Amino acid sequence: MKVLITGTAGFIGAAVAEQLLARGDEVIGVDNVNDYYDVQLKQDRLTRLLQYDKFTDVRLSLEDAPALEQLFKREQPQRAINLAAQAGVRYSLQNPGAYIQSNVSGFMNILENCRLDWNIWCTHQAVRCMALIPACRFQYTTTSIIRLACMRQPKKLTS
Ligand SMILES: NC(=O)c1ccc[n+]([C@@H]2O[C@H](COP(=O)([O-])OP(=O)(O)OC[C@H]3O[C@@H](n4cnc5c(N)ncnc54)[C@H](O)[C@@H]3O)[C@@H](O)[C@H]2O)c1
Repeated sequence: MKVLITGTAGFIGAAVAEQLLARGDEVIGVDNVNDYYDVQLKQDRLTRLLQYDKFTDVRLSLEDAPALEQLFKREQPQRAINLAAQAGVRYSLQNPGAYIQSNVSGFMNILENCRLDWNIWCTHQAVRCMALIPACRFQYTTTSIIRLACMRQPKKLTS
C-alpha cells in the first residue's frame, strides 16, 4: 500500500513510517524539517528511513497548498496519515501563528486533497461508494491508538 505520512522527520511520524516500511508498505514522507527543535535529530530520523527503498522524502510545508495538491496528484497515495504539527504548549504563547498555519491551515489542506480524491472516485463509482466508506483515504485517529497498533504489529491493510 502507498501511504503518505506527514511529519516523517518528527518523533511520532518517523516511528509510524518505519513500522509501515518494515512490513513492506511504500511511504511518501512529507516534512518541512523546521527548527522548532534540533534539526540534526530530524535529519538523523530521515537518514534512517532513507535506508528503505520504498521511502520517498519530500521537503514541503503543509501550508503550501499548490505543492501539496501536486504531490497528491503525482503520487496518488491510498492512505494519508497527518502527523506533522506544531507541537508544544509553551511555544503557543510566543508564536500562536505557527499553530494556526500548521495545525489548522495545513491540516485543512490535507483534508482537501483527500476530499478531492474521494469526490473524483465517487463520481466514477457512485454505486459502490457506500460499501467502501471504511476504506476512505483519510482516517482520523489519535497517537495513543497508533501506539497500540504498533505494539500489536498490525496485519497489512487492504485497499
Ligand atoms: N510526542 C508525543 O508523545 C505525542 C503525544 C500525543 C500527541 N502527539 C501529537 O502527534 C503529532 C506529532 O508529534 P511529534 O511528537 O512527532 O512532534 P514533532 O515535533 O517531533 O514532529 C512534527 C514534525 O512535523 C514537522 N512539521 C511541523 N509543521 C509542519 C508543516 N507545516 N509542514 C510540514 N511539516 C511540518 C516538523 O518539522 C516535525 O518534524 C502532534 O500532533 C502531537 O501533538 C504527540
